[in-house]
Amino acid sequence: MKKKLRRGVFITFEGPEGCGKSTHSKLTTDFLRKEGYAVLHTREPGGTEVGDRIRSILLDSKKIEISPLAEMLLFEASRAELIKEVIKPALLKNKVVISDRFSDATLVYQGYAGGVPKKEIYRVESVSIGKIRPDLTIVLDIDVKRGLKRIYLNNRDRIESKELSFHRSVRKGYLDLANRDKKRIKVIRTKGTIEATFREVKSEVMNVIRRHLL
Ligand code: TMP
Repeated sequence: MKKKLRRGVFITFEGPEGCGKSTHSKLTTDFLRKEGYAVLHTREPGGTEVGDRIRSILLDSKKIEISPLAEMLLFEASRAELIKEVIKPALLKNKVVISDRFSDATLVYQGYAGGVPKKEIYRVESVSIGKIRPDLTIVLDIDVKRGLKRIYLNNRDRIESKELSFHRSVRKGYLDLANRDKKRIKVIRTKGTIEATFREVKSEVMNVIRRHLL
């Protein structure tokens, strides 16, 4: 049976490398579709033609140096496009939008770990994303070494290839953000099986969805 929402619901998945967010954002999408919700699944950076090209500059080009400030601006450019072309139209149609990463990733990767002042990121964000904020953010938390082990050394992209201390700052950044906004950001430890983690994910997702049912 088709389920209707009073307004669009925006859910994002975040976490350190190898935390399983792509798996869980897809499982969530499939689950909600089976339940009768209209769901749009997307990812960052990318999700639009321009965004996919920016993704390839940011991630594929291992040999070029990009400063954290330029990185931040490129991620925000990709985000601005994704919001205009994909996220906003879907939210206006009262869909559930699920994104594999969003603005918290910029605060954590370019801010906490990259050293770009958070104040500057918020300034750019106010232009690139306007008033759009996730209703729920799931941070899948994992030990940094364990997460990186899941990505083969020669398959690592430009950001995944950064040193361990960078990835440790990423994890700390996510946990700090979650501490500051416990209402929106839910941390789930990914210690057990995929099924066990997904039960927790589903419970957080449904808590938010139920609040917006027609
Ligand atoms: P992923 O699709 O495997 O998560 O790859 C995206 C990579 O880009 C990941 O290493 C995190 C990084 N990233 C940032 O550094 N800043 C951002 O704003 C976003 C969205 C991603």
